[in-house]
Amino acid sequence: MPVTRVLTGITTTGTPHLGNYAGAIRPAITASRRPETESFFFLADYHALVKISEPARVQRSTLEIAAAWLACGLDPNRVWFYRQSDIPEIPELTWLLSCVASKGLLNRAHAYKAANDANAAAGEDADAGITAGLYMYPVLMAADILAFKANQVPVGRDQVQHIEMARDFAARFNHLFGEHLVLPEAVIEESVATLPGLDGRKMSKSYDNTIPLFAPPAELRRLVFSILTDSRAPGEPKPTEGSALFQIHRAFATPEQSAAFARDFAEGIAWGDAKQKLFERLEAEIAPMRAKYDALIAQPVELEATLREGAEKARKVATPLVRELRRAVGLRDLREAPGAGVAVARAKPALPQVKQYREGDGRFYFKLVDGEGALLLQSEGFAQPKDAGQWVARFRRDGGACVDDALAIARLADGASRDSVAAALDALKAAESADA
Ligand code: TRP
Repeated sequence: MPVTRVLTGITTTGTPHLGNYAGAIRPAITASRRPETESFFFLADYHALVKISEPARVQRSTLEIAAAWLACGLDPNRVWFYRQSDIPEIPELTWLLSCVASKGLLNRAHAYKAANDANAAAGEDADAGITAGLYMYPVLMAADILAFKANQVPVGRDQVQHIEMARDFAARFNHLFGEHLVLPEAVIEESVATLPGLDGRKMSKSYDNTIPLFAPPAELRRLVFSILTDSRAPGEPKPTEGSALFQIHRAFATPEQSAAFARDFAEGIAWGDAKQKLFERLEAEIAPMRAKYDALIAQPVELEATLREGAEKARKVATPLVRELRRAVGLRDLREAPGAGVAVARAKPALPQVKQYREGDGRFYFKLVDGEGALLLQSEGFAQPKDAGQWVARFRRDGGACVDDALAIARLADGASRDSVAAALDALKAAESADA
């Protein structure tokens, strides 16, 4: 059975909260235990630099997030767990990809466009305050994924565009330099519950309504008691539907425990008692993990060693791949015969081309030639350049599907066939979509 390689990055901004745990950490760790899966989890600290410029915060967040994943049960011997900035192949690949990435595509990235729009709304220059780091974020993310030949990338909806861009850069690289990169797929975890926060909206740092996963018990209790409830009095039955208290409980309970809590609601439990029960449930789940977390944070020596070992293991994958890519693009040992070796054996045959030109009769023509330059099709003369241009555009769009129409307005060259023209048109179309 083929192994599926799953890869996820965690940006090191902030401290993990209950919502991160239930929505991301816990399901990812569970998935990493599946057979036939290789899981790559990394701390995206280069990405953090796009968002924060406080060194101490970057460091602290890296420490907390690494400790959290390990405390929650991630087994670094089973998975590949590393820090992005320990992998020099990632920035190296970022540059190789930058040289094939279409700037127009980056212009359309959601985060960059949102920043443009905010500037426009404020009457500022479109790029005011926008760094090249924000702009290049999708290329760095593509390098994270492609450097490890990941098959699947579990992400939230907001990240799907980034995965599509990674596919686009990889396809374009492969088109130019041979099949080296694996095209990744986004996996959207629809079933994963989003947890409500203190105010009932989705738990999120941007709403400032989170409960930190490893808050000390007294702080955890205080936060649980601040969860928004309604004015139903003790003894009055309470609906579980729409209750943040109930939903958070359910994410940390067995189905039986959750059913018992629902009965308490129906029987009119007082809000204070319900909060106490939720606190106790959370504390029962979290306390053992918190003990590990506190120990790891107190002993960064062990964490640092774990991450370095993880990087070493991860580089066993990335180093040979990037070496192969360097060769493929021409960053080569000068003693090697030019054009020798693997990359060339794998390189794609040259593409067919359509050439447009004007003849002495003042009319406009096009011709289709194959990768070797041999003539396949010769058009009739058109009065206007755009008449010839429309045909060329159509070839690029429709490929071999328009071969019969093409043969109706252009002459088949000696030695060419309907099939060879159709294949050439298909190749033009494929090149066009790889470029788009
Ligand atoms: N951009 C992702 C986020 O904000 C984090 C990330 C960086 C990532 N590199 C990645 C996720 C590679 C998946 C794969 O959540």
